Amino acid sequence: MGRASDRAESLHRHFDGKVAVVTGAASGIGKALAAELVDRGATVVVADINGGEAASVAEQLKRRAGAEQVSAARLDVTDAAAVADLVGRTAAGPGGIDLLFNNAGIAVGGEVSELSPAHWQRVIDVNLWSVINGVMAAYPVMIAQGRGHIVNTASLSGLLPSPMLVPYSTTKHAVVGLSVGLRMEAAAHGVNVTVVCPGVIETPLLDKRNPDDLPGTDSMPDIRSMLTSLVGKPYPAASLASDVLDGVARNRPIIVTPHHARRAWAIYRISPRLLIDQGSARIRSALGSDDRRR
Ligand SMILES: NC(=O)c1ccc[n+]([C@@H]2O[C@H](COP(=O)([O-])OP(=O)(O)OC[C@H]3O[C@@H](n4cnc5c(N)ncnc54)[C@H](O)[C@@H]3O)[C@@H](O)[C@H]2O)c1
Repeated sequence: MGRASDRAESLHRHFDGKVAVVTGAASGIGKALAAELVDRGATVVVADINGGEAASVAEQLKRRAGAEQVSAARLDVTDAAAVADLVGRTAAGPGGIDLLFNNAGIAVGGEVSELSPAHWQRVIDVNLWSVINGVMAAYPVMIAQGRGHIVNTASLSGLLPSPMLVPYSTTKHAVVGLSVGLRMEAAAHGVNVTVVCPGVIETPLLDKRNPDDLPGTDSMPDIRSMLTSLVGKPYPAASLASDVLDGVARNRPIIVTPHHARRAWAIYRISPRLLIDQGSARIRSALGSDDRRR
């Protein structure tokens, strides 16, 4: 009991005094990560394309911590120059930059037969180029510092096939590949890389459709009900953030959480065919029913 609480204490202390940038931090998982980092003593830059919401999250967190510990930035992660600028400005501060959480992301889905190049382009820009932009900005700085940790939010969809969310899943598989390969190179420079593969997490993303400015797709599923029925009940974002920071403190290469995600991943590794055949049957029956389209 004593040893377990010592361990928990040291996982918390790991972040004390560290400097972190979190993208997509105005909502959901990014917001929960920012809050958990602040609670564990880190200095946090709350970055999001929604600058107003980023500022309001930073204000809430300042009340929990202190003004000097939290700041907000409007950042579009698809803009490489803007990402480099924010990382550069943060790194030039007294504490340098210890952690970059490349977390911002969107869901794009629907039957592949209905999607346009614009759907693919958007999700690749926001979910994959964002991570590349973050790595290109932070990795050289962290090599020069001789320390740093890049934490990329992929998804369970980066480990498993995800019908009806194929563009999303494609980008998340790429983020897993990028992260694990980079980790193996980065270790030589004293830099750590972790990829996070969350299962179904209670955030606004579960209730979103494809971005409004893209052509409509009748087959875009209701993400919440599809993932809940295929994978499991949504897990609280705050619990996910705590699992992630514990895993980062332990320098885990791949963090798969919660339990429903580890179970699905294990089944897929043991018998890919089982999961693919069961999933295909469910999709066939859903596509055949009238009420799937909303
Ligand atoms: N919710 C889940 O079940 C789940 C599961 C696995 C992985 N994820 C991943 O977690 C990450 C966070 O998702 P979430 O569930 O918190 O979603 P969310 O929609 O609640 O939050 C996403 C945030 O990203 C921001 N964002 C979108 N485009 C951006 C851009 N171009 N530049 C900067 N910020 C941008 C949004 O403004 C929003 O604040 C995503 O990468 C998502 O793919 C979510």
